[in-house]
Amino acid sequence: MTIPPPLSRLLHSVRLEFIVRQHLLDRLRDRVGRIQSEISQPRHQGEDDDDHGHQQNPALHAASLLPVPCPRIARSGVARVMADVLASRTMTRNSAAVRDVLTLPESLRGRRIVLVGLMGAGKTSIGRRLAARLGLPFLDADAEIELAAGCTIPELFSRYGETYFRDGEKKVIRRLLAGGPAVVAFGGGAFMDPDTRAATRDRAISVWLRCDLPTLVRRVASRENRPLLNNKDHSATLGSLMARRYPIYAEADVIVDCGDEMPEMTTSHVIDALAAYAPPRRLPVVLSSTRYDVVIGDGLLARAGALLAPVLQRKRAVVVSDANVARLHMRTVLDGLGENGFETSTVIVPAGEATKNVDSYLSVVDQLLEARVERRTAVIALGGGVVGDLAGFAAATTLRGLPFVQIPTTLLSQVDSSVGGKTGVNTRRGKNLVGAFYQPKIVLVDTGSLATLPPRELRAGYAEIAKAGLIGDADFFAWCEQHGTAIVNGDRAVQAEAIERACAFKAAVVGDDEREEKPNDGRALLNLGHTFGHALEAEYGYDGALLHGEGVAIGLGLAFRLSEKLGHCSVDDVERVLSHIASVGMASDLRSLNRRFSAATLIGHMRRDKKMRDGALHFVLVHGIGEAFTSGDVPPGAVEELLREEGCAA
Ligand SMILES: NC(=O)c1ccc[n+]([C@@H]2O[C@H](COP(=O)([O-])OP(=O)(O)OC[C@H]3O[C@@H](n4cnc5c(N)ncnc54)[C@H](O)[C@@H]3O)[C@@H](O)[C@H]2O)c1
Repeated sequence: MTIPPPLSRLLHSVRLEFIVRQHLLDRLRDRVGRIQSEISQPRHQGEDDDDHGHQQNPALHAASLLPVPCPRIARSGVARVMADVLASRTMTRNSAAVRDVLTLPESLRGRRIVLVGLMGAGKTSIGRRLAARLGLPFLDADAEIELAAGCTIPELFSRYGETYFRDGEKKVIRRLLAGGPAVVAFGGGAFMDPDTRAATRDRAISVWLRCDLPTLVRRVASRENRPLLNNKDHSATLGSLMARRYPIYAEADVIVDCGDEMPEMTTSHVIDALAAYAPPRRLPVVLSSTRYDVVIGDGLLARAGALLAPVLQRKRAVVVSDANVARLHMRTVLDGLGENGFETSTVIVPAGEATKNVDSYLSVVDQLLEARVERRTAVIALGGGVVGDLAGFAAATTLRGLPFVQIPTTLLSQVDSSVGGKTGVNTRRGKNLVGAFYQPKIVLVDTGSLATLPPRELRAGYAEIAKAGLIGDADFFAWCEQHGTAIVNGDRAVQAEAIERACAFKAAVVGDDEREEKPNDGRALLNLGHTFGHALEAEYGYDGALLHGEGVAIGLGLAFRLSEKLGHCSVDDVERVLSHIASVGMASDLRSLNRRFSAATLIGHMRRDKKMRDGALHFVLVHGIGEAFTSGDVPPGAVEELLREEGCAA
């Protein structure tokens, strides 16, 4: 018999009304029982956790699911009313009673806390307790989906399949992430979706409740109601879910290992981990052709995989480093990448400026090809400016360009060379004469890596920080005068601030003139002190006797002296610069170096520098602190005179 369409619609709607009503009543009963049993006996973590939220409290946030579109099952008026009533009750119990018990650190306020993990990890039981202790609402994504759909998740799976479920889950989660602070438990598969992870990064802090296999198997032993556990071999199923999901869960901001302790204990661990979590600072570098972030924080080497996964298309990378850095930090980086499922190999070069040459470049390219890199294999530079410039040039040219990542480990590379995309090598005719502009996909600045940097290298890097202030930010230079000593003495917090300010300065300059094409000023201003510095480096022969930053420090002093000599800047400013450089323990003039130079030889080096234009020497000069400008009409006689005054022979 054919049922006429209006009657069929009516029947359909009555049936839905019935399902929703049944569902809510079931949950209400379940909730009452749960509260009673919670009062009478403590439960173990994960006991009520579920990959599909079968036993969740529908009351908590039923109201918020109402706008969720459910393509095949309309929501009923009954559900709407019930949801409103139940939601308000829950808020009273959950929030009013315990609000103000604990507060989150400032950096996390206003963000949602998302719990991820496999079925049985305790997302619901911990989430509920966490919410209560923080005085926040608790939202369970799976419960919200069930309420929106008007049926259980196993029913959804069997009726419409996993794809349909995931689609709905994505929409529900997007809505759950949109509101104010709350604790949100994701279903086990939700975090696998890249869009969901991106939305979570934007709006929440994610916590992975990590459990080992035996614990999970024990916890899910008695459950029959999970669509992904419908075969009986729980261990094999969970094992294969772990293999697929753990490398993705590892992208969570915070990881908490959970065992068989009581849920209250795990909740305390989560709270401790949240309190200790310092979100890294993110500084965008915005260029006409691309944009990327400089991520600055402590402990980022170990988080390399989590931070790189969202920006790389493939989880395969070759890490290029020098022997010193590899010995100290390679293991941490490889472990961090491995945890996120990266396939890795390494290329190690000798440490020091002498390595930045054409032969080393060819050798690195050869090793990349030997490692069978493909178009989407990333090259990660782990080290100082030498490794960054060398590996960056190899990445730019191998297979006509491989994705490139900078993980700078010297102060100099963290504040300067890793940002802006200049890559290249030296030739016997001078510094950086062969190279390419090639921007990284991301820069990870781990301030913790500076702990192993020799003090001399730290000071050399400091020269590039002071340079940023001297070029265009007098306030920043004044700040440097106050904090320079703390920076070179290893004060992490001050270092982080200096790195962020110097990178922000460089990002702004590079954003304005990415390829140094402006006829005046623009990116060329970043060369303040470099014409002199490069000439000194060439004179020393890149043997480590004079570090790049040390050459720059002396170059800064000489650039100010030359500016004063040409009547552009006051002697007071010159004195201020020289005394600041000396105050951080660096040589500020040529006389402080244990070597005599010839003015003619140094000028010869300058003429081979790539800062020559139309055959004339170009300098960056200053009108004062923070007021640099480019100049193409410096009389060669003035440079020679200055060098003679500084003690050079003819
Ligand atoms: N591309 C650019 O825009 C740009 C800008 C400025 C400088 N540079 C280049 O950068 C280079 C100088 O860089 P640099 O000063 O970083 O030198 P570097 O790369 O040679 O590193 C200095 C030394 O420190 C060691 N090291 C690095 N990180 C360490 C750590 N965390 N712990 C212990 N030891 C560590 C290295 O092994 C090396 O011996 C020069 O070649 C310069 O031309 C490039």
